[in-house]
Amino acid sequence: MKKKLLVGNWKMYIEKPEEAKRFIAACKRKAQNISGVDVVLAPSFTLLPTLAAAAGSRIKIAGQTVSPFDDAQHTGEVSAVMLKAAGAAWVIVGHSERRATEGALVPAQVAAAHNAGLMVVLCVGETERDPSGAHFSVVAGQLAQALMGANGKPAAAKVVVAYEPVWAIGKDASEALPPAELREMVIFIRKTLADLLGRAVGIKIPILYGGSVDAHNAPGLLAEGDISGFLVGRASTEVTSFIELMRICKK
Ligand code: PGA
Repeated sequence: MKKKLLVGNWKMYIEKPEEAKRFIAACKRKAQNISGVDVVLAPSFTLLPTLAAAAGSRIKIAGQTVSPFDDAQHTGEVSAVMLKAAGAAWVIVGHSERRATEGALVPAQVAAAHNAGLMVVLCVGETERDPSGAHFSVVAGQLAQALMGANGKPAAAKVVVAYEPVWAIGKDASEALPPAELREMVIFIRKTLADLLGRAVGIKIPILYGGSVDAHNAPGLLAEGDISGFLVGRASTEVTSFIELMRICKK
């Protein structure tokens, strides 16, 4: 069986190099025997080199976003090549906290990441649910936009999809998606990916869940949701809860 994938999105929770180094040292100390899970951490840009140096080979590093541009005249942007040079092998694209203002950039960001050889965690998810089931077409639209790209050339290589219903992000675990509803959405995402990219490619793309995941709801979501792992925010910024999630993913 393929290993589960646990991606930690630090957002702006961890701000200083000393904190990042302490986190990794404690993780290494306490998680010595946990080898059955793939772990990726996404710190802010300023912490990338520190984390990449501290993490060693067992924990991979991700950018939290990437510039869609590759030419130099873009003040304040960080290109995919820069991310790679800073030690990242992955990048999160389309997180809802960025989609709100720059959703149109997602296809170019996926393309830029792939051109630099980065793995992409592509976030999709509806902002709210209503009984009409409109959330399915929202997610299908986001997948088509991101994966068919501006030129219609499919971008299936090196993509992991993270389903994160926006209304469940940053809340209490009790407000996360129930496992049965996750399973329904995962089946829908898998079918959409197969329609977009062809069955052989589409069904191989791992699907993660994110949105108020913690040690209490993770086992149920994993067992019933038919997912390949998690993208977690807050629970990835505290060593004990992150290690607990590693343990759960390993089972
Ligand atoms: P959360 O964040 O785990 O704190 O809900 C998830 C995310 O935004 O990726």
